[in-house]
Amino acid sequence: ARKPFIAGNWKMNLNHLEAIALVQKIAFSLPEKYYAKVDVAVLPPFTDIRSIQTLVDGDKLLLTYGAQDLSPHDSGAYTGDVSGPMLAKLGCSYVTVGHSERREYHHEDDELVGKKVRAALKHGIKPILCVGEKLEVREAGGHVDHCHQQLLAALKGLKAEQVKDVVVAYEPVWAIGTGKVATATDAEEVCQALRGALADKYGAEVADEVRVLYGGSVKSGNIAELIACDNIDGALVGGASLQADEFTKLCALAA
Ligand code: 13P
Repeated sequence: ARKPFIAGNWKMNLNHLEAIALVQKIAFSLPEKYYAKVDVAVLPPFTDIRSIQTLVDGDKLLLTYGAQDLSPHDSGAYTGDVSGPMLAKLGCSYVTVGHSERREYHHEDDELVGKKVRAALKHGIKPILCVGEKLEVREAGGHVDHCHQQLLAALKGLKAEQVKDVVVAYEPVWAIGTGKVATATDAEEVCQALRGALADKYGAEVADEVRVLYGGSVKSGNIAELIACDNIDGALVGGASLQADEFTKLCALAA
């Protein structure tokens, strides 16, 4: 059985001092035994990661953490970018790749997203590969095909063994930061289809192991019905991950 996974995507919020305060509050609120049931990660801005690493290592916290993006390259003349080896050295377990905000504001296409997925895996970091349709695609009924295509394009060239380490996040663009959560039925439809696509391409064993998350206006008030779905293994949480009380309540409800 797949272990539920809750990841908090902080986006461009919280400086390193605020990050320390939030992680300490989360650590205080979730007892150690909780982590036997659910994996929890925070995904802060790059500038916070070193502080979080020091805190997690020093206090032996069971919370994991990661980054929100990485370069497809290992090093070199790429001003402003951060590489997989750098993130690995900081103890990052995860990195989001292909978030709709990166696709939209930084014009990332499936080919680049695929390179980033491979860069993460190369350095032992689990990519959280985000896929999701815009409102017009959903209204035209093309959401399943769209997500299916984004998924397979980003995984191109990977071996089945590697695909097991990918976390897939279905994040319908119209549900991100809008308060408009997909119904559990709508979210499950796509998550099930994505798992089906993985089964067709990489085999049932791989598809059974890959964690598929839902993201888009997830809160403590709607996590239970989402996670109750057969193919939804957790959530990628934006806004609700910025407040300790709300985030830990949400995490507790995922157990
Ligand atoms: P919200 O939870 O704020 O809608 O953001 C979702 C998201 O984009 C997580 O990656």
